[in-house]
Amino acid sequence: EEGLHPPAYPWSHRSLFGTFDHASIRRGYQVYREVCSACHSLDRIAWRNLVDVSHTEDEARTMAEEFEYKDGPNEIGEYFERPGKLSDYMPRPYPNDEAARAGNGGALPPDLSLMVKARHGGCDYIFALLTGYVDPPAGVEIREGLNYNPYFPGGSIAMARLLYDGIVDYDDGTPATTSQMAKDVTTFLAWAAEPEHDEHLQFLNQEKLCTY
Ligand code: HEM
Repeated sequence: EEGLHPPAYPWSHRSLFGTFDHASIRRGYQVYREVCSACHSLDRIAWRNLVDVSHTEDEARTMAEEFEYKDGPNEIGEYFERPGKLSDYMPRPYPNDEAARAGNGGALPPDLSLMVKARHGGCDYIFALLTGYVDPPAGVEIREGLNYNPYFPGGSIAMARLLYDGIVDYDDGTPATTSQMAKDVTTFLAWAAEPEHDEHLQFLNQEKLCTY
């Protein structure tokens, strides 16, 4: 059963010659980090990818260093933990799918790297999903542990509503309304699905234009 068709929004990266809104990518990273990364991995993005896109090199390095990474073996065959580096990829919230399901009532929170490309409707769908939680219509029973969302195919989703006004504190002073956070994290995920988008545009490679 298909979900409700999401409205089409005017994403800056989707217009002809459109480039990403870098302030929005930065805010969207903050939403990913403070909210989504508790459950969702972002396997294809390394800390260095953020440099000169949403953060300075110093900022990205400092953020990387806040996480511990397993490394090794060293010269004497030992594995060890060390602070993250720019070349490391975003840390995962769970060690494996089994643990991820166990933490989410049996449902697997998918990796978000290519999510805007993986789902019909792309950015419009993700924005609509994040902002679209409503009470189920009269007579519709939602199974325990699931949530009604008319944009999710079938209408019942294991992910609960997560975005509420003011749950993040943006450092650029932008009011963190539910829809602002949904827009920013969706823009961040659109960039994450194609981190070279703007670079290609510099060479006017129109085939690389973002169509999702
Ligand atoms: C599924 C985005 C936060 C748990 C999804 C999907 C997206 C998404 C796009 C896929 C929906 C589909 O299959 O079409 C986000 C974003 C978040 C966020 C952008 C932050 C704003 C979270 C958090 C949790 C979570 C914090 C856990 C507490 C899940 C689960 C699913 C899911 C379990 C699978 C749902 C199902 O298959 O029924 N999320 N998510 N998500 N998410 Fe999230």
